[in-house]
Amino acid sequence: MATNRILVLGGSGQVGFELIRVFSLQGNVQAPLRKELDLTSESAVTSYLDEFQPSLILNAAAYTAVDKAESEPVLADRLNHLLPAQLSVWAARHSAMLVHYSSDYVYPGNGTLSWMETDPAGPCNEYGRSKLKGDQAIQSSGCQYHIFRTSWVYSARGHNFMKTMLALGKDRSALKVVSDQVGAPTPARLIALVTLQAFLKLVPSGIYHLAPRGEVSWHGFAQAIFTFAAAKGMKLTIVPEAVEAIPSSDYPTPAQRPQNSRLNITQLELTMNCELPSWESQLQLTIEEYLS
Ligand SMILES: NC(=O)c1ccc[n+]([C@@H]2O[C@H](COP(=O)([O-])OP(=O)(O)OC[C@H]3O[C@@H](n4cnc5c(N)ncnc54)[C@H](OP(=O)(O)O)[C@@H]3O)[C@@H](O)[C@H]2O)c1
Repeated sequence: MATNRILVLGGSGQVGFELIRVFSLQGNVQAPLRKELDLTSESAVTSYLDEFQPSLILNAAAYTAVDKAESEPVLADRLNHLLPAQLSVWAARHSAMLVHYSSDYVYPGNGTLSWMETDPAGPCNEYGRSKLKGDQAIQSSGCQYHIFRTSWVYSARGHNFMKTMLALGKDRSALKVVSDQVGAPTPARLIALVTLQAFLKLVPSGIYHLAPRGEVSWHGFAQAIFTFAAAKGMKLTIVPEAVEAIPSSDYPTPAQRPQNSRLNITQLELTMNCELPSWESQLQLTIEEYLS
């Protein structure tokens, strides 16, 4: 059997790191770091692809600084739109498969119903617009692809809300967190494991929502982080009841945030014949990993 040549882009990021771990038994994995391959250079990317000839491209690289994207739309567009477009054209020409990650930010973010993959997009900020253009370019490229739209990514590594809360919880006795934005916090580890299963099960090309079951606000998520961390023996200066719920209007940011980040995961569960775990169980596992 021919060995899979697997290219992981964004391997130093939250999702990319987990992809390298999870796909390491599936073939020859290469994961160039930024200093080895600058993804803003179209020619460098083409040269790398032509040299390595991957049969599977896992693109976890992205411009993820949501607020900064408002003032750097060209860079956000290069990484979130033009890069996946380039990868998909190369994949189509070379019969390679492309896996790409997108976001609930492609949807308008209003209402309270969970978004379906078939719902009309309508991003409310530059980051979301750049991610949507990336998705559309892949869809029209003719390559074999999985696009996983996910939400509120976190892990035991990298920069994320869970780690920020745990750092603050070590010396603060009170905190204010927004309670009118609702979604499902998704561990990078879960994303990588589902990506592998979808690859192995030969799931058809398409866009799939990938998040744990259930929903919570950032405020509820913060309280759960402190509850689970304390239960695992972490010394905190804050108790969950000391986290005050505030509206988004009390925490202005350069980029508008969607209030409704709920993703309907039925399509993925049906296609893969699986039941995704709850966000609470995933948080407990991630906190255990963080504390170990
Ligand atoms: N984070 C979230 O809450 C969230 C939510 C929904 C969807 N997503 C999507 O999920 C995917 C993975 O997100 P993540 O949280 O794992 O991202 P992340 O931790 O911010 O990692 C981004 C990766 O992209 C790399 N990168 C950025 N610019 C680069 C460049 N010019 N050249 C080479 N590498 C570059 C980074 O490298 P360096 O380490 O060198 O910077 C890093 O490895 C992305 O597609 C993102 O849009 C994320």
